[in-house]
Amino acid sequence: MMRKARLGALAGALGLLGMAPAFATPLATPSYTFNKSTVIAGARLFADHCSACHAVSNLRYDRLESLGMTKAEIKKDIMLPGGANILKGMRPTMTQADAKKWFGLPPPNLSHIVRAMGARWVYTYLTSFYWDPKRPSGWNNHVFPNVAMPNILAPWGGTYTKTGKVLQPGRETPAAYHKEVAEIVAFLRYASDPSVFERRELGRYVLGVMVLLTVLAYLLKKEYWKDVHGPEKPGEEGHSQDVGASKKRREGRSGTR
Ligand code: HEC
Repeated sequence: MMRKARLGALAGALGLLGMAPAFATPLATPSYTFNKSTVIAGARLFADHCSACHAVSNLRYDRLESLGMTKAEIKKDIMLPGGANILKGMRPTMTQADAKKWFGLPPPNLSHIVRAMGARWVYTYLTSFYWDPKRPSGWNNHVFPNVAMPNILAPWGGTYTKTGKVLQPGRETPAAYHKEVAEIVAFLRYASDPSVFERRELGRYVLGVMVLLTVLAYLLKKEYWKDVHGPEKPGEEGHSQDVGASKKRREGRSGTR
């Protein structure tokens, strides 16, 4: 409780300094399995709903081939904006100039949004729009007050008031809608960290080699220590022999000098 209060105070202070928004809404956790098929599903949804406005310029289209999509699928389903090049980063359909005219600011590039804000924030943001007739677009957001982005997912997820009353139900069930938003978040998480699956696959071999080296090092250690005796026990035959042998060697050496 104390800790929560302190964190709240810290978030408030940062908010006052304009460094970070103080979240009035607790963040929800998206529920998805982070694997290649979830990311592909999210990429398709992103192309359908978000690419009109947002670039993901650090992710090349052909990266999706490494997840299992074919070039033809990428061209047909993902590279919707005109002028897209499979060897270049994901670009928006809208020009920056038009976007500025319509929204007052260009929609941000989402390459690193999950790294910057966390998957939970992005998920909560996408599911926290509410109808606000006072806003120019008609939309507001619980975790991003006075946001300039319209709630383009409203036809699927429904339209709510600030207090959560349904103004217009969505086309999809809440469960199906939340699953799709989670897939979009999975895609954006991948975009923030596109080597993740290669790392995971490589990681298995690296761990295997380390286990193998540990076993070899242990066997080597056993082999070395076989000849080394424990603490001195007076009167032990081996011990006195050893002393004798080294004494002889020492004498031999001084003799040659
Ligand atoms: C009609 C254009 C448009 C579409 C379509 C759109 N957005 Fe946006 N989005 C914007 C604008 C404009 C902003 C900037 C909002 C602001 O700064 O007030 C924004 C902001 C965001 C942010 C916050 C970025 C930040 O820097 O904090 C996220 C995340 C985001 N959009 C995700 C999405 C996703 C995911 C989709 C698809 C489901 C999507 N957007 C579809 C216009 C759009």
